[in-house]
Formats: sequence, structure tokens, C-alpha cells
Amino acid sequence: MKLFLPYTKGYRLWMLLAIICSVGEAVLELLLPQAMSDIVDIGIATGDRNYILMMGLKMLILAVLALLFGVGAALAAARAAMGFGSKVRAAEYAQVQRFSFADLEHFSTASLITRLTNDVASVQGTIFMATRICVRAPVLLVTALVLALRISRELSRVFLVTIPLLIVAVAIVIAVVGPFFTKLQRSTDALNLVVQENVNAVRVVKSFVREGEEKEKFRLRSEDLRTTAERAFGFVVSFMPLITLLMGGTITALMWIGGHYVADGIMLSGDLMAFFTYATEILASLMMVSMVLMMLTRSIACGKRIAEVLRHKPSMTEDTASELTVENGDIDFNHVYFKYHADSEEWNLRDIDLHIQSGMTVGILGGTGSAKSTLVSLIPRLYDATEGSVMVGGHDVREYSLEQLREGCAMVLQKNTLFSGTVAENLRWGSDTATDEELREAAKIACAADFIEAMPEGYDTHIEQGGTNVSGGQKQRLCIARALLRKPKVLILDDSTSAVDTATDAAIREGLRTTLPDSTKIIIAQRIISVMDADLILVLDDGAIVGQGKHEELMETCDIYREVYESQQEGVEGNG
Ligand SMILES: Nc1ncnc2c1ncn2[C@@H]1O[C@H](COP(=O)(O)OP(=O)(O)OP(=O)(O)O)[C@@H](O)[C@H]1O
Ligand SMILES: [Mg+2]
Repeated sequence: MKLFLPYTKGYRLWMLLAIICSVGEAVLELLLPQAMSDIVDIGIATGDRNYILMMGLKMLILAVLALLFGVGAALAAARAAMGFGSKVRAAEYAQVQRFSFADLEHFSTASLITRLTNDVASVQGTIFMATRICVRAPVLLVTALVLALRISRELSRVFLVTIPLLIVAVAIVIAVVGPFFTKLQRSTDALNLVVQENVNAVRVVKSFVREGEEKEKFRLRSEDLRTTAERAFGFVVSFMPLITLLMGGTITALMWIGGHYVADGIMLSGDLMAFFTYATEILASLMMVSMVLMMLTRSIACGKRIAEVLRHKPSMTEDTASELTVENGDIDFNHVYFKYHADSEEWNLRDIDLHIQSGMTVGILGGTGSAKSTLVSLIPRLYDATEGSVMVGGHDVREYSLEQLREGCAMVLQKNTLFSGTVAENLRWGSDTATDEELREAAKIACAADFIEAMPEGYDTHIEQGGTNVSGGQKQRLCIARALLRKPKVLILDDSTSAVDTATDAAIREGLRTTLPDSTKIIIAQRIISVMDADLILVLDDGAIVGQGKHEELMETCDIYREVYESQQEGVEGNG
């Protein structure tokens, strides 16, 4: 609750207005039955036509005013609720942007999407409903009760039975339904996961002809969501007849007893009419309260999930950051150990001790899963080392702000994406201020210039979301060009030329050597030929460095390297 308080700023006045209007609406509505009763008991009893007309007019004015207040209350409440919701959403989104890779994995993307949309909508909806009802219902309840008591103390005793019964019923429903609502949101998460995964990877799904299985997966989750929702809302709904029964019972009892009072002359018939209206109002307000309480149970479940996101401390902080910028491309790993999950037993990286001088070209080789990507991801601080320290430019990576560090260390991720927009817009992710000349320059080094210029609109060609309208190799080259525009001190290419032919691959490496002589270039590759001429080659196996040196040294000292080299040579000779 306290957590959400700041987001009400700027909307508190609207909230107040909604409350005032709701009070006004409720009070005016309550005056109506009194006027009605006067018409019957005074106007009709004495046959005073003028009095009846006057009171009728008064009722009309009251009704119109009540209507106006009602509209005002709804408008103000909508404004307050929607404003609050959008602020919470913005805060949550900003928080997600602060999350590190590890935090994102902790929540999962699908769940974050639900928490950003569905959960906020539910809280927002409840605030809108609750503002009016929470004011209206108590006002109606108390005033109606007072007025009813004033009319007949005896008849009011009926409420002594009804109200406690109703409260017990509501309490039971809330206790039972509450947990279902938490589960309901979790089922929504699960459904979102399937949708998100499937829609994201729709091409893979289609090429493996997995539509059937995916549909089935969707059906199961959807079914699960349905049953949970049915159970939650079903219970709420089955509660409705109970309420109706209680209301019917109350009215019948009132009629029975009240009828006798009127017959015995203890009570006026107009008073009984007014009493009925008040009784209905009392019961209706109790019903409204119970509805709001049920909505609230759901919103609390949603609110808690939002709070989890807002309260989650990003696992990567910039507490120790200073104004430093990356000055050179020296890289040092000092006995680094790393694991993705604190509770897993195996290290993903073991005792990495590595010293790279600025300007070197470093090749990294190793089988799949040998932790090549993991190793380099510690340099731009996509993850933090669990033990030991990683240094760039002579400073611990934690001494830089993330922005400065990543400005200095550009990484072309293994799984890269382009965004919808033009080629030029995509390249400018590397540097907002790059001139057209610089774009062309970077594209040339990445061997992307030729195909970009061959495209119908050159640098203004539109790229589809995810880069689906360029080939794999073209996409890789665009991603390299994008990183080059950073003019980084450290450039990391994680298997970034795997879809590029060997000649182009060599041309790109040659271009990097001549244009970025002082920057450190780290190249992860599958083909030894891609890194053979590097100043330093690292061989990784199962999270540890098992060999480092130049090509000739490794041929002598590292068995794994020699074996891989020979097998790849055979391939070449076999093909040739
Ligand atoms: N986000 C992650 N969470 C948990 N474990 C991970 C994560 N990413 C990788 N791993 C694990 O860490 C190990 C090393 O993975 P990594 O991606 O670094 O290998 P790699 O050498 O880059 O492989 P490849 O050549 O296929 O790209 C693998 O066993 C993998 O299961
Ligand atoms: Mg990898």
C-alpha cells in the first residue's frame, strides 16, 4: 500500500472530487424516499394537489442533481484511476529497464508482460469502482439505517438478523476465493508465455510443422485459465442467489410485520413505503460492499505482483560507479568464478585468469556450451562475476556506470536482433549522432555497404521487426556495423560471422585490424581459420581455459586445439 502512495500524486484532487460527488449523490438519493413518503402521508392524505406538485418538482430537482453528481463522480474517479494506473505502469516499466539479465530471467518475460498490463488494469478497474462504491455504500448504509430507525425502531430489528448473516457469507466467499485469484494471475502468466513464445518463434514453429502441438499447448493453458477463472468467479456467482435469498427474506419479513403494523394503525402506509426503500438501499449497499471486497481480493493479488516488480532490487547496481570512462582496451580477469544461479552446484566459469592488452586481437574457441558467451558477457557486465574481478581499462567494471562501460565495450550478441525501422535507424543504435558518412564507413568495414546500397532504398530501406527481411549473414553484418559505430575500446564479436562466407569473414577481420588498431577485438568463432592469426587464442572447455597462446604454441601444447584444427583441416581438404 505504502509503496503505491507516491503514484497517486497529481490525482489526489480528482479522487477527492470523486468522493465529494459520490457523497452528494448518495445524500440526494436518500432524500428522495422521504419526499415520496411525504407525498403519500401528507399530500394524498389531505388531498392537497399543490403540495403534491411541489414535492414532485422537488423530487425531480433532487433526481437531476443526483444524476449530475453521479456523472461527476464517475468522471473524476475514472480520471484518478486511469492516471494512477498509467503512473504505476510507467514506474514498473522503468524498473524493468533497470533489471539486469539475471533479474529478467528471475521474473520471466511473459510474467512481466502480465504484470505490466493485466495486473495494472485490474488494480485500475478496482480503484475506479471502489472510489464510488466505497463512499456511496457506507453513506447509504448509515444514513438509510438512521432514517429507517427513525421511522420504526421495531421494524429495524429485522436487520439484526440479516446484516450479520450477510457479513458471514461475504467473509466466507472472500476467504475461499482469495487464493484462486492469485492462481488466476499465474495461469494468465502461463498462457502469455505460450503466446509470446509461439508468436515470437512462429517461423520455427511453422518450419517444424509444430502448429498442432503449439495449438494443443495453448489449448491446455487456456483450459487451465478457464477452469481457474470458473472456479474463482463461479464461487462468487453461486453466492449471488444466497444474497437474493437473504434480500427476499428480509423484504418478506418486513412486509409481513410492517403490514400488521399498518393494519393495526401503529404505522403510516407512506412510512412503510419509505422504510421499504431504505431497507432495499441498506441491502443494496451491503451487496455493493461485498462486490467491491471481492474485486479487492483480486486486485490485492495483482497489486502484490506489481509490488514484487517495483520492490525487486536490481541485482546489478551502480553503487560503486564513478565518472570514469573506458580509456583503453586492457582486460583482466582475476581468478573469476561465475554461476548463473546462486544455488546451482556447478560453476559455469572456473578460475578464469586472463590478461589482455589493449589493441590485441583475441580468438576464443571451444565446443558448444563451453561457456564462451558466458565468459565475454562479464566484460560489458551483462552479468557480474560471482567471485574474483573483471577489469577493463585498468579499472574494475563495477567502477564504471553501465552506460559508460557499454559505451566503451561494444558486444555483438550471439542472438542478435534488429528492430523495425530503417537500416540507418538500426545502425544509429550504435551512435545517435553518427553522420551519414560514418554510417557508410562502418557498413564498409562490416562488409555490409555493398548489399545495403543494392537494396531498393539503400540506407532508408525498411527493416521488419526482428530483421526478417534480411538474410542471416546480412543481419550479422548489420549488427557488426552497428557495434562499430560505437567506436569501442573493446569490440566483442560472439560468433558474429557464422553465417558469412570465409572470404567475407576474412575481409571483416582485416577491416577491423586496420580501422581499430588500438581497440581490443575479441572474436568468438567456430572455425579455427577465423582466429588463427590472432595475437592470443583461448581454448575453453567446460567453463575453464584449457589452453592459451598463439596458433603455433597451441598446436604444440593444447591437444584439444590440435584435434579441432586437424578435423577442420580434413574437412577443407576433403571438400577441396
Ligand atoms: N542464462 C543462462 N542461465 C542459466 N544457464 C545458462 C545461461 N546461459 C548459458 N547457460 C549455461 O552455461 C553454459 C555455457 O553456456 P554458453 O552460452 O556460455 O556456451 P557457449 O560456449 O557460448 O556455447 P555456443 O558455442 O553454443 O554458443 C551452458 O551449459 C549453458 O547451459
Ligand atoms: Mg555462445
